[in-house]
Amino acid sequence: MESNKKFKSCKISASLLAADFSNLHKEIIEIEISKANELHFDVMDGHFVPNISMGLPILESVRPLINKPIDIHMMVSNPDNHIKVFNEAGGDIFTFHIEASKDPIKTIERIKETKMLAGVSIKPDTSYKEISGLINIVDRILVMTVEPGLGGQKFIPEMLGKIKKISEMINSNGKSIDLAVDGGIKSDTAKSVVKYGVSTLIAGTGIFQNKKGIVGGVEELISSLY
Ligand code: DX5
Ligand code: ZN
Repeated sequence: MESNKKFKSCKISASLLAADFSNLHKEIIEIEISKANELHFDVMDGHFVPNISMGLPILESVRPLINKPIDIHMMVSNPDNHIKVFNEAGGDIFTFHIEASKDPIKTIERIKETKMLAGVSIKPDTSYKEISGLINIVDRILVMTVEPGLGGQKFIPEMLGKIKKISEMINSNGKSIDLAVDGGIKSDTAKSVVKYGVSTLIAGTGIFQNKKGIVGGVEELISSLY
């Protein structure tokens, strides 16, 4: 029997990249009043990923508009260089890519010297084994379910096996680590990942470009889990 309890405890993180930036204030307020649990903030440097997205000035403008936690998803080559400033600008979770860090344990230690929680993300081609040494120290594991760097891509179903393996690794360690997915998460893909142990769904176009609006988009994602 499927556990509804598991679904109820699943968090929703709205990925700002898909927002209408000409109406940013309104979009943020809608996330604030919606059932989303947090705001996901994608930072791209044109080096670790081909695109450039947003940085500190936007975070500083957004921070006072929302009381929900902000997860900083750092798709940049030298994540350690940015920990301090993103903490000062109001980040709550700092998620870096394992592929971008010279010493992931050190990066996590540096994040934990701030008030932020530490998240580590892996790209679709990176093996789950790469993060096995971080299970005891990290707060969130973020499995990319598309190639990082662009919103609106199609969910890669082959990632389900990786999600399952990581979920087993977390459970066998008895740790309460948050398992998140990012990329192509919509009402038609959400349930499958939650079944495999995901506890945070990060969604951009599925929320911000939903026909039912932002609040309705979050509701649609939640109802798709039941
Ligand atoms: C992609 C970003 C995602 C993106 C998700 O590299 O990390 O957070 O906004 O967008 P959707 O939900 O549209 O795939
Ligand atoms: Zn992201």
